[in-house]
Amino acid sequence: MAYRKYLKNPVLEDETDQMKGLPIPPIQKPYTEDAGLIDLIPHESLKVDDISLFQAINNRESRRKYLDVELTLEEISFLLWATQGVKELARGGLVTKRTVPSGGAMHPYETYLLVKTIEGLEPGLYRYLAIEHKLLILDTNKSDLSEEIVDVCHGQAFIGKAAVVFIWATRPYRLEYRYGEDSLKDILMGVGHICQNLYLACEAIGAGTCAVVAYDQDKLDKFIGVDGENEIALYLAPVGKI
Ligand SMILES: Cc1cc2nc3c(=O)[nH]c(=O)nc-3n(C[C@H](O)[C@H](O)[C@H](O)COP(=O)(O)O)c2cc1C
Repeated sequence: MAYRKYLKNPVLEDETDQMKGLPIPPIQKPYTEDAGLIDLIPHESLKVDDISLFQAINNRESRRKYLDVELTLEEISFLLWATQGVKELARGGLVTKRTVPSGGAMHPYETYLLVKTIEGLEPGLYRYLAIEHKLLILDTNKSDLSEEIVDVCHGQAFIGKAAVVFIWATRPYRLEYRYGEDSLKDILMGVGHICQNLYLACEAIGAGTCAVVAYDQDKLDKFIGVDGENEIALYLAPVGKI
């Protein structure tokens, strides 16, 4: 199988941009000053059910049936913090320490949310600003994106029934800056840690999720408004109450 070469670490020949002394790329995708932002509940104030870690791990499974009820702002705040929450700016503010690990602490990801039913939020597309712990409003004009996301995911109907869909994209240069051609495995492994935290956090709030990789790449890139080159959709996970 030709693809197996990608499972191996490459022999590195070129200097990385970090070795060349080039400036480190921004921790987070920039946004304009006039953008609409929504405050989330800080993690210190979150009151989530305290199920044991044992229970969360033991109960975890891929869940594809969701109740037709909304998630609260507190619940989505918790899920976002659990998956990408920033705990500390490290190395003089150049990298972040988060609730999940990432090679070189570079965290080359952005989280998009397709919101259907979350308390106090218009349905639409949002992006999580992990440093500010806020949501950036991207598009709340489209009335119902459920059918479109099902089409993007080759007709997997359960995704359209979720209260919210997490969509993770990578901005690969954030990692290439440090590791060059050796970035592939880091990027793909790192997003797995994020999704696993989502699974466990969902268990704590009576919600469920299911990792999804079966999607049309061009359609998903367009859906979240990325160019598929400097930013590439990677993985998604619908979430709903169970
Ligand atoms: C990388 C990855 C991709 C997956 N893609 C899909 C998918 O596209 N659609 C789906 O329904 N489930 C998907 N799943 C969920 C698996 O089918 C599920 O994890 C597996 O059946 C084991 O079930 P469990 O998670 O309940 O233990 C994916 C899981 C992983 C880890």
